Amino acid sequence: MQPQNYSHSLPYCSLREWYNTSMEATPILCELRVLVGAETQLLHVPVGSNLRRVLLDANLSPYVPITTFANCGGRGLCGTCGIRFEAGEPAPFHWHDRLAAHYGYPRLSCQISIDGPMTVRLLIDKVIWGKREPALRYPPRSADGEG
Ligand code: FES
Repeated sequence: MQPQNYSHSLPYCSLREWYNTSMEATPILCELRVLVGAETQLLHVPVGSNLRRVLLDANLSPYVPITTFANCGGRGLCGTCGIRFEAGEPAPFHWHDRLAAHYGYPRLSCQISIDGPMTVRLLIDKVIWGKREPALRYPPRSADGEG
């Protein structure tokens, strides 16, 4: 039996082309505000983007000069990519980020997926990691001191 060739009746040349065309979705964008000192940068980024990657691509590095070259490359190991949240802070996911969040250290931008609108602040005064701010613990300390 001869194989049938149906390609002339299809609007696409191949299954791959059909798949790429039909599955190509317009990315949903999230608003990301980045505070750098007194300035605010507004970015629109695809949902699910990695915060560190977005910041670096936008030339808004979360690093200080020495850690620009001496960092773990986004593996969540060095703690030098820390930023502070002003709004839209997600729950910590990575173990290192959970510890940082729990004790009030800056959140690791390399461990943050942008899944909603966020406002983050770059730490322009940090030396390497950024200082601890107990009032910024996650989850926030309750009124009776627990948590
Ligand atoms: S880049 Fe090393 S912890 Fe984020």
